[in-house]
Formats: sequence, structure tokens, C-alpha cells
Amino acid sequence: MSRYQDLAAQTERLIADGLLRPGDRLPSVRQACRSHDVSPVTVTQAYYLLESRGLIEARPKSGYFVRARLGQRLPEPEMRRPLGDSTQLEVSDFIFRILESVKDPSVVPLGSSFPSPYLFPLDKLGRFLATAARKLDPLATVTDLPPGNEELRRQIALRYLAHGANVAPQEIVVTSGAMEGLNLCLQAVTRPGDLIAIESPTFYAGLQASERLGLKVIEIPTHPREGVSLPALDEALRQHPVKACLFMLNFANPQGSLVPDAHKKALLELLQRHDVPLIEDDVYAELYFGQQAPLCSKAVDEAGLVMHVSSFSKCLAPGYRIGWVAAGRYAQAIQRQKLSTSLATTVPVQIALADYLKHGGYENHLRHLRRTLAQREAAFTAAVESHFPAGTRLARPQGGYFLWLELPPGVDALRLHRQALACGISTAPGPIFSAKREFAHSLRLNFGHPDTEAQQAAIATLGQLVAAQL
Ligand SMILES: Cc1ncc(COP(=O)(O)O)c(C=O)c1O
Repeated sequence: MSRYQDLAAQTERLIADGLLRPGDRLPSVRQACRSHDVSPVTVTQAYYLLESRGLIEARPKSGYFVRARLGQRLPEPEMRRPLGDSTQLEVSDFIFRILESVKDPSVVPLGSSFPSPYLFPLDKLGRFLATAARKLDPLATVTDLPPGNEELRRQIALRYLAHGANVAPQEIVVTSGAMEGLNLCLQAVTRPGDLIAIESPTFYAGLQASERLGLKVIEIPTHPREGVSLPALDEALRQHPVKACLFMLNFANPQGSLVPDAHKKALLELLQRHDVPLIEDDVYAELYFGQQAPLCSKAVDEAGLVMHVSSFSKCLAPGYRIGWVAAGRYAQAIQRQKLSTSLATTVPVQIALADYLKHGGYENHLRHLRRTLAQREAAFTAAVESHFPAGTRLARPQGGYFLWLELPPGVDALRLHRQALACGISTAPGPIFSAKREFAHSLRLNFGHPDTEAQQAAIATLGQLVAAQL
């Protein structure tokens, strides 16, 4: 945890414990610098983080004040130990059925995996796409075959560099979204019947991909705020022939957990000791609420074990289907898998995104997007806290757009899902995030859509439906 996060956490505890009450003024930046022996930048970043989480507010010329909270403060869910050992998967049909509702635009999309499309510079991207198509070099259909458009890979490599990681364009393979990237990575390092380690809970599409490839999974307990348990992973790696780990280290789907820097380094050391590759799904890395990007695993991957998978689907261009794998020593194998499955990724779209990254104002867009999502998280959490019954737990994310709730014991998330759908509200119930359909009382909600009256009413309805099940 960096110093500003530490200071923010200390202040948050004072608010949670009631030592700082709604309306209380926080120490000025100068006072806080003196009492914590930190720089003004650290204090400002800490206050900014607390503000983005809705805990404090700035009043012009007066300083920072603790905000009034409408509802209760809900405690964090506990880390769950998954049942039993490895599992043969049989979840795909079940997940497809549950997620069908997400496609219906008349439903309030709290169960959706996608953020609001209106958060993205679609008009501007459209102009870049039109230009790319008009000026397309006919030879590009051949030169941009896998690993993909050279300028796009160079732009992606530059972003790694900005995050402290030295990734050569040659080890980047452009894919049709992160989803194809994850599949190619799994195919490159496993055979049917092999075992991989996954988080618990985990992103359901990883379960579906593993099922399709005939893989078995072992679920590793995962903390709602700090990510995968290292002692539990160590034990699994000692006892089972795990061929790869499929994890999210930054703002995981569904819990929103962010693996602390020291844990990331320890995780890579552990994997290095066991010589097991990590397929890291990192599609939410750009959506952080604080001042600093999370540590990029590629920056500390000394053994080259990380296949880093990401895309522009969640942070810039949903629907463009451009993702990539920074694959290190596995780049050649992944490139071959790509050629023999989908051959190539659409060329004009690759060129358009490369041009946008160079000239389109990506950083500005990201700054705006991060701030919007942080504000929505604060408003959404406040609404949940005022409408859900006591006994509900929630993990506040530091990035992304998912809120993970543990409902009071006795509430059935699948039943709630059906009841909510009948009221025109989609939800993502806990069991779709587990190979053994655990997390029966958990729920993932999407706060990446506008804070409208319909959304507020949907949260209130969900709270009532939960209370009615008690
Ligand atoms: C965790 C995670 N990984 C991967 C994907 C798929 O990304 P893409 O749309 O780039 O294929 C999603 C989309 O919901 C996701 O939530």
C-alpha cells in the first residue's frame, strides 16, 4: 500500500469508528503533512481518494469535511474456502441461461458485464475508423497478419513502458478482444484433462473457456479486497499438477479486488518456484480510482511467466473487439494458435485504434472515465447502504465498475435474480462465478451506468426483495 492509500485508510477508519463524524472538518493539508510526516502531494492524493469514494467533500475555501451518510456502513464479506479439490466443469449452459437477460435493453442492467457505452468517445473513434478504412494500404491485409498491426503493437508497448514494464512490440499478439487472448493462452499451455488454478469467485467466461477446452479447475480462496490467497495457492501448487493460473490482479471481476504490490511480487516468486505460468486477465487495469495505476505484473515478471491479457473493450472501444496478449516466451505459440483459429484481427480497426492512441487524446479520456466511475461507485454504494437490510456485506472496489455483495444468510441470489428480472432488473448472481455454484448468497452489481431515477428505483426494489426473503 502506498503512503497516500495508507493515510486514506487511516482516515477512513476514523470515520468508520465514529471519531470523525459527518460535518467534521478534516485537518488542513498543512496540518496533516506535519502530523503524518508526509508531503502535501500525499495528503492531497489521500483526500482525493476519500472524496472519490464519497466519504469526504471539498467545500470552497473551507477545506475537506466528512460527508453525511444516508445509510449504514456495511461490513466487508469474508474470504470463502471453496469446497473440495479440482472440478470437472459443467457450468456453461447454466451461465448462458442466467445471462440471457443482459441483452434486453429495456432491463435495468445491474447484471451486465459492460459499462455504459456512452462513457466512450465513440464519435471520435468512428472518425478514426473512417479514415483508416479510406486510406487502407491493400498490402496491410498481409503485413498486419498475426502478431498484428505494427504501430498498434508499438503504441501498446509504449503504454507498458509508461507503467514501468519493458515489453517489446514483438512479444505482443493482437487478438479479437481479451476473450480470444485468454482462450489462446489456455490453449498454448494446456491439453484437455489438464488442471488450472482459478480464483474463487472467478469471471464466469474463464469457466466457460476452460469447460470448452476440457480443463479441470482448482478454485483458490480469494479475498474480496486483496485477491488470491497465497498460502492456499502454495498448498494447491504443492499438491496438484497445476499447468497454469488464470487470475485477475487488478479490480477483479466479480469482487473488484486489487492485489497489493507486495502480494503481486510474492505471487510471481511463488509461481517461479513452481515454474507455473500466470495467465493474467487485466482488462480493468486502466480503471483505477486513485492517482496511480496499479503495479503492472509485467514490470516485476523476472522469469517471463506472465501472459498478460488485456483489451480496449472496457476502457476505450467496446465493440471494436481489439485485445492483446503480452506473451513473453509464449508469444510464438500464441501467434500460431491465433493463425490457426481466427487467422487475423480486423485490419482497419487495428489501424484506427493505433491512430487514436497516437493522436486521439487517450489520457484525457481515461482521466474523465476514471473520475466518472469513482463518482458512480460512491453514489451506488451509498444507495445500496441505505436500501439493503442489515446483514448485507459489501467490498468497496478501488477501480472497475463492479460491486460485490454478500447478502444476509438465507437469501438465495438465484431466486433474487428471477424475482428482480420479473421487475425489469438484471443481476449477476454469485453461483455463476463458481465452478461448484457456490456463493449462493452473493451478487455482483454493475455501477458503470448512469445514476438515473430508474437505477435508484432498481436498487431500492432489490433491497426490498432481499428483505422480503429474510
Ligand atoms: C474479466 C473480464 N475478462 C475479459 C472480458 C472480455 O473482454 P473482451 O470484451 O475484450 O473480449 C470481460 C468482459 O466482460 C471481463 O469482464
